[in-house]
Amino acid sequence: MTSASPLVAATDIARRDPQHGRWLLHPASLALHGGERLSITGPSGSGKSVFLRALALLDPLDGGHVEWHGKRVARAAIPRYRRSIAYIRQRPALLDGTVEDNLRYPFTLRAYRDLQFERERVASLALQAGRDNDFLDRRASELSGGEAQIAALIRVLQLDPEVLLLDEPTASLDPASSHAIEGLIGAWFDAGTARDTARASVWVSHDPAQAERMSERHLSMQAGVLDEAPLISLDRERATR
Ligand SMILES: Nc1ncnc2c1ncn2[C@@H]1O[C@H](COP(=O)(O)OP(=O)(O)O)[C@@H](O)[C@H]1O
Ligand SMILES: [Mg+2]
Repeated sequence: MTSASPLVAATDIARRDPQHGRWLLHPASLALHGGERLSITGPSGSGKSVFLRALALLDPLDGGHVEWHGKRVARAAIPRYRRSIAYIRQRPALLDGTVEDNLRYPFTLRAYRDLQFERERVASLALQAGRDNDFLDRRASELSGGEAQIAALIRVLQLDPEVLLLDEPTASLDPASSHAIEGLIGAWFDAGTARDTARASVWVSHDPAQAERMSERHLSMQAGVLDEAPLISLDRERATR
């Protein structure tokens, strides 16, 4: 079920290469409603990350604007926006220290000072991903790629984001870790539906089968141009792989 007004609506957002002026993202528009799961596929270098980062308001726009719950996101509202509209990168950046240190880190930031770290909560998220309590005491520098991504995802999920913008989060991971990540995200989404809080995700994937599993609506990116593409086109993409 989707709600009436979009959670996030981008109108003609665009990005250019600051050095050469080349368009990295041609004006792109997208409305994301509560309850929607989107996927984006496209060749490497086509602008998927540029688009997702623009939508997350992580990089300055060279055109267009983003509305959140029907209101244009002003500069002062960007920290609040980023708290709710979370961008997950392909290679997570973890700090030195333990997994728990990393999970506690957001609470030291101004944007989250009204929240408190809950060890039980993160332990249960870790458990959902097949990791026991010891996981929280592991050194971040000793984690495998998959474990690092699980830690990074838990760091975001504990903050109850409204929208996840997932930038190939499982691209270089083993199947078991990919499965754990899909499970965590699926549970986050279902919890929103159960509590009737609108959640939505955009999943950039290199894998058409994953895009099909993790979304109902599909878009494609080609040379900086974002287009609607029926999920059925994924079958063709897969056939040519
Ligand atoms: N900050 C930047 N400055 C200049 N060029 C960039 C910048 N970020 C990305 N690009 C270029 O934009 C194009 C799209 O990149 P990207 O969005 O990362 O592709 P992908 O679809 O693989 O995620 C690439 O040609 C890349 O080199
Ligand atoms: Mg990318």
